[in-house]
Amino acid sequence: MWRILSGHLSSYEDSSKFNVGQYRRECVKIYKSFEFFHPDNEEGLQIRRQCASAALNDVRQYLAEEGGQVAVFDATNTTRERRETIIQFAEQNGFKVFFVESVCEDPEVIQENIVQVKLGSPDYTNCNTEEAVEDFMKRIKCYENSYETLDEVLDRDLSYIKIMDVGQRYMVNRVLDHIQSRIVYYLMNIHITPRSIYLCRHGESELNVRGRIGGDSGLTARGKEFGKKLSQFIQSQGIGDLKVWTSQMKRTIQTAEAVGVPYEQWKVLNEIDAGVCEEMMYEEIQDHYPLEFALRDQDKYRYRYPKGESYEDLVQRLEPVIMELERQENILVICHQAVMRCLLAYFLDKTAEELPYLKCPLHTVLKLTPVAYGCKVESISLNVDAVNTHRERPENVEVSRISEEALLTVPAHE
Ligand code: G3H
Repeated sequence: MWRILSGHLSSYEDSSKFNVGQYRRECVKIYKSFEFFHPDNEEGLQIRRQCASAALNDVRQYLAEEGGQVAVFDATNTTRERRETIIQFAEQNGFKVFFVESVCEDPEVIQENIVQVKLGSPDYTNCNTEEAVEDFMKRIKCYENSYETLDEVLDRDLSYIKIMDVGQRYMVNRVLDHIQSRIVYYLMNIHITPRSIYLCRHGESELNVRGRIGGDSGLTARGKEFGKKLSQFIQSQGIGDLKVWTSQMKRTIQTAEAVGVPYEQWKVLNEIDAGVCEEMMYEEIQDHYPLEFALRDQDKYRYRYPKGESYEDLVQRLEPVIMELERQENILVICHQAVMRCLLAYFLDKTAEELPYLKCPLHTVLKLTPVAYGCKVESISLNVDAVNTHRERPENVEVSRISEEALLTVPAHE
């Protein structure tokens, strides 16, 4: 859930996460055992109360003083009284609260969740699997002692979604605004079925080899060769139910044609619109628009090409694709450099600063396999030569720089 909140429900940097467990780990450096959570452990209770209130205070500061729009307050063990405190706190500060509760009674899912998620937790770094599972099961017993679930009658005035047995059923109550409805939509569409998302760019295009950005050119001979290799690679993965998506641009469609499987075209997957700079070389942009070129280097994520788009615009444009990617299972997305950077940044939780410089070389497939709290990434080069289109941020981004400095990082081309 965090990824969508951090990157796409609002824009980058408008949201942040406050995990009470993290505050507790900072306070009590070494986790000994479940006994810390025992209802009779007065010291433990006090520390956890202090951590929850420190986290809430940071939420207040973030929303009221630092311009944050969405704060995710993540606390495992909740009582009606604690929810009441949160509501009062929100009312005093003029914030809205939306509760998300995940209730799971299925022992197999719980066991699997502990193995997949909790073993990676800093609490269990020095434990083997059995020890961690045993301790966490006892910890759940401690939580059960005080936990009070959201109740259809008692909590009828609250805004919430209650997710039962990892999406088998949902209870949704009093959705009050657009953000809340998007949270609900998102949570009702994610799944934990194992699957992989394959991301790649189209094969090398005619404009790529000439060092020109954008446009709608066809593939070079090497680009077509990549299409064939991609087809073999996909077959070697042995996925029966693979879906393939392309943009509506010639180069992605030609690549999918070479793969020889049915595909679906998405206009929103089209490459970033470079506006007045479409089909130009970086050298020409520097020549015609040196100010624009420097401004882009200063803030590549937010910079919008005249009559075109910024990466920030692109992230917004891609939201429906991202939502649909969450719903789908195995999928291959054949897209473009800037688009692939945005999709990758979403799945790998990259910042707005990192996003426009993520390396997405031609003729390379990135296989993303969602795991607990993230994604495993494998980079597979299909061994077909291609031009490099990645321009690093130059050291000098001042408007006053000379052309040589601005062009220092332009990759070689025809
Ligand atoms: O045509 C556009 C490029 O693929 C995007 O590259 O954002 O690194 O200039 P850039």
